[in-house]
Amino acid sequence: EKGGYDWFMRKEIFEQPKAVADTLLGRYDADGALTLDEIRISAAELRRIDKIVIIACGTAFYSGLVAKYAIEHWTRIPCEVELASEFRYRDPIVGPTTLVVAISQSGETADTLMAIRHAREQRARVLAICNTNGSTIPRESDAVIYTHAGPEIGVASTKGFLTQLVACYLLGLYLAQVRGTKFGDEIALVMEELAAVPAAISGLLTEMDPVLKLAADFADERVVLFLGRHVGYPVALEGALKLKELAYIHAEGFAAGELKHGPIALIEDDLPVFVVVPPQGRDMLHDKVVSNIQEIRARGARTIVLAEADDHEVDAFADVLIRLPKVSTLLQPLVATVPLQVFACELATRKGHDVDQPRNLAKSVTVE
Ligand code: F6R
Repeated sequence: EKGGYDWFMRKEIFEQPKAVADTLLGRYDADGALTLDEIRISAAELRRIDKIVIIACGTAFYSGLVAKYAIEHWTRIPCEVELASEFRYRDPIVGPTTLVVAISQSGETADTLMAIRHAREQRARVLAICNTNGSTIPRESDAVIYTHAGPEIGVASTKGFLTQLVACYLLGLYLAQVRGTKFGDEIALVMEELAAVPAAISGLLTEMDPVLKLAADFADERVVLFLGRHVGYPVALEGALKLKELAYIHAEGFAAGELKHGPIALIEDDLPVFVVVPPQGRDMLHDKVVSNIQEIRARGARTIVLAEADDHEVDAFADVLIRLPKVSTLLQPLVATVPLQVFACELATRKGHDVDQPRNLAKSVTVE
């Protein structure tokens, strides 16, 4: 049932083009309108929403961090992202005009479930983004956007994450459509770009040689850092989480702009640092991240750079280059995450770990 793969995780990584395509399927009609049938909250009510609070755990939380950039940009609705385990024990400011978005692959995560109950007690409207039909979290929500990743068996989330991103983008665009903050042609452009992502991921997955080779050199590494900015920051966090849980390596993700505020003190000779570089061109953050790469390299770091295929500004400062397909900044996590998943899977395999069942972890965390 692993379809010829050694691990479910590897199979699920390779299923991502289809998972992304399936999650987009049937949600955008020929007249250029997004229809999210399962959003059982009326347009009138969605127009009254004045705040969005995203709650989730682990990898799902990182998809929420990406969503904040897209949703605020497209809708101008203030959007917070919070760990469900923190939210549930706080006294959060939510009410009938708050849209709480709970993101959960399994739909059974105890902290996320308790957080939505906590939100509903305060009359917030709750929308679930979930991969498991009929699971508890969507059942206890007002609305749901299902991701269509198919069953995710490997404990480490992969296609679950990518499809959560897609669902978040769809939600952001839908809110923009309903509230009129983006016009049809602008929405169409993003939808067109999303439609091209599955093929981009397929292409990327055929170019993993540098990633596999890198994993072969990593057996003895004890510490690995990941840097990113804007939506690349949650990608860095996700890359680090995958290494922790699969390769049992101490890995940390940082916002590149924070380097000077502390993390740069960690840089020493040969320390491996992955850097997610934003798209080149109109993106002003690109040059800032390239400067960050120079700064850490000058201090001895071994730089593993994820950058667009034709971005040659990074070439001179990269010890290892991982090329990414061209997509706009907001959508870049859909491609930039993939090599990091492959890397963690490969490294854990080489270390002889059980990739599908990492130590101490469970697929759905139904206790707190
Ligand atoms: C990491 C991972 C976990 C889950 C988290 C939330 O690879 O799988 O961090 O993302 O436990 O799980 P769900 O999405 O089922 O609520």
